Amino acid sequence: MSSTLTIALSKGRIFEETLPLLAAAGIVPEENPEQSRKLIIATNLPHIRLIIVRAGDVPTYVRYGAADFGIAGKDVLIEHGGEGLYQPLDLNIARCRMMVAVRQGFDYQQATRAGQRLRVATKYPAIAAEHFAAKGVHVDIIKLYGSMELAPLVGLSDAIVDLVSTGNTLKANHLQAVEHIVDISSRLVVNKAALKTKYALIEPIIQAFSRAISE
Ligand code: ATP
Ligand code: PRP
Repeated sequence: MSSTLTIALSKGRIFEETLPLLAAAGIVPEENPEQSRKLIIATNLPHIRLIIVRAGDVPTYVRYGAADFGIAGKDVLIEHGGEGLYQPLDLNIARCRMMVAVRQGFDYQQATRAGQRLRVATKYPAIAAEHFAAKGVHVDIIKLYGSMELAPLVGLSDAIVDLVSTGNTLKANHLQAVEHIVDISSRLVVNKAALKTKYALIEPIIQAFSRAISE
């Protein structure tokens, strides 16, 4: 149906930070996914609905056209690839940095200079592999799905590659950031076919988001 729009969002910070942008486009969700168990959320506009998916699944729903557009972190787009997606806007929300971190007191510079093989735990194996390959540092990458900060504390890894915002999680776990890999924020990702067939519905929303972020 070309008269309806489905928007894929993850709950938590992306949903919260997207609410003002949706409001700027005249879209108000009827429920908050933090309180509701519903995965399809109606809005004040009968032709627009939200679907609530895992952050890393947003590009998949949009690429296959199950959602017309969505919002995904640059971390997710780099790690899983953004192929087949039109990415018209950096929304400047959910801002953080992808960093390498180690235990306080661990001499990272010395370890990398010495050509030591490092064990690196991360949810982002592709980003980590590319980073260390570019530096010529040999690493064994250990894939984790969360709580990366624990890995160096219990001897699972020498380093982690993870997102850092305030630095509070690193500090609370006696870790220190030693390298900045890339700045992260979230982007609008649009299904290319939907952009053509539903241009009249999607374009005004892109414009409204664009105006809201430049205010
Ligand atoms: P999932 O729970 O599905 O594994 P997730 O934990 O990465 O995914 P969120 O924590 O909601 O999901 O993060 C969504 C996006 O927000 C991330 O992809 C990233 O771009 C950004 N993000 C993650 N952590 C932070 C942070 N501490 N501060 C700001 N933005 C962040
Ligand atoms: C992210 C990230 C760090 C933390 C960094 O986790 O994986 O653990 O935020 O933020 P800080 O520098 O402000 O402390 P998140 O809050 O998304 O938890 P999760 O990975 O368990 O979802």
